[in-house]
Amino acid sequence: MSTENTIKIKKDEGAEAIYQLLATTAELKKSGGQLTKWIDDHDILLYEFEGEIKAISNVCRHFGGPIGYHKAKKGVFTCLWHNWQYSCKDGSNLTHCGLPLRN
Ligand code: FES
Repeated sequence: MSTENTIKIKKDEGAEAIYQLLATTAELKKSGGQLTKWIDDHDILLYEFEGEIKAISNVCRHFGGPIGYHKAKKGVFTCLWHNWQYSCKDGSNLTHCGLPLRN
């Protein structure tokens, strides 16, 4: 894992949570409320939806196409390659249930 912009937080019973800065809120706003970023080998889609900032995988469960290539419309991301659709609310798959995006 990249150590740049990484924060480690010790939790109860010795567990450790690691957080990675993807962008500032100013950068997100400048990108129209949606941007993608590679962190190590993960392509991540960062966006604002209904007042919350969320991060999900930008890799489609069908064949790996980019989910966030186009801006979301009416709370839905549509994959660039074959139009599978995912909910902005939680990354659930609206085309083929049971194949959600990682968050
Ligand atoms: S790769 Fe996304 S719908 Fe096919």
